[in-house]
Amino acid sequence: MLTAEARLPDASAWTLDPCLAYLNHGGFGAAPACVLADQEAWRTAMEREPMTFLVRRLPELLESVRTEVATFLHADPDGVVFVDNATAGMQTVITGFPLGAGDEVLTTDHCYPAVLEQLRLAVRAAGAQLRTAPVPLPAASRAAVADAVLSELSARTRLVVVDHVASCSGLVFPVEEIVDHCRRRGVAVLVDGAHAAGLLPVDVSQLGADFWVGNMHKWVCAPKASAVLYAAGQWREKLRPLVASHGVSLGYQQAFDWTGTRDPSAILAIPAALGFFRQAGWSRVRQRNNELASHGAKLAAERLGTWAEWADGDGLAAAMRLVPLPAPLAAPAGWELERRLADDHGVIVPVTHHGGRSWVRVSAQLYNTLADYERLADALVTQWPAVGCQPKA
Ligand SMILES: Cc1ncc(COP(=O)(O)O)c(C=O)c1O
Repeated sequence: MLTAEARLPDASAWTLDPCLAYLNHGGFGAAPACVLADQEAWRTAMEREPMTFLVRRLPELLESVRTEVATFLHADPDGVVFVDNATAGMQTVITGFPLGAGDEVLTTDHCYPAVLEQLRLAVRAAGAQLRTAPVPLPAASRAAVADAVLSELSARTRLVVVDHVASCSGLVFPVEEIVDHCRRRGVAVLVDGAHAAGLLPVDVSQLGADFWVGNMHKWVCAPKASAVLYAAGQWREKLRPLVASHGVSLGYQQAFDWTGTRDPSAILAIPAALGFFRQAGWSRVRQRNNELASHGAKLAAERLGTWAEWADGDGLAAAMRLVPLPAPLAAPAGWELERRLADDHGVIVPVTHHGGRSWVRVSAQLYNTLADYERLADALVTQWPAVGCQPKA
């Protein structure tokens, strides 16, 4: 169970509304007050003299943040560029990837909806095909998940797009096995690591994927609009940002470092967020959050009467868990449940759907305690009878 050997930061380090049980850290992250203060200091420095800051200081500042982020992710710094968010990073790769008529792109049925839309547009434009591997829940093992994906490879597969940690399920994919197999078959892999940085120990070099995209604002708790795109050496000269500016012909990193005037303070505050967790100790934070999410989800599912059928689904996860709802919900009923939990109980969670079932996804960050999940359980038990009888999915 949860240990309390030394003090970890708690809710007092964040600016979240103390009246809420905020259980959706996975959705958008939340930056601690000290990180927001650091961001504000960068903004102030920029606004004192924008020209010097943006033209002369920024390239060096970005280089220094890049080095720190690359060290954290165990990535070759020459492959790392900054983008606003995972959506932009994924779009950049998907748009730039050379697809031809008859080629196939393989993804899974856990793929983030926005990324799925990007893939649909890209294959349509190229005359290629999109194949979706079903990955059932609960996942039996890493091997079973890897197998579910890899068994859908065909001789025409050019690109595999796989989540590092999926949004709808919180499932931690065995990306190492998937990348290893695809590399041996000469198939490129794009890993959607939107949730991975901070949530898991990420080693981009060891992973060896062609592309890896990750948010810093989620589990590293940097300010919003701070994300990373990594490309392996053979792709760097082929990949350019969605918006071309002065540096577009000067090379991979120069092309991404300036895409027009924008506020770089979120990126510049990444080191403050990394420092916050380094001080707390990443492995302690991960273990604590993982245990709390697991206990919290079990507690809520037991109160709802859905734990028995789901107990095996607790593996292959990290600080995000699913609470199975007693019956599937159509999307509008899911939104209604979210709304009631928020407005009537101050409990903030997303309702997710996969494989014809519906769930409440809970996250755990240092500002959460077991009381938040008890509040969720009370709220679900109160609201389910009304919402659960709405038309089914
Ligand atoms: C797996 C996955 N990919 C991509 C995204 C998009 O992230 P963002 O909204 O930061 O662009 C998310 C957001 O939750 C996600 O969970």
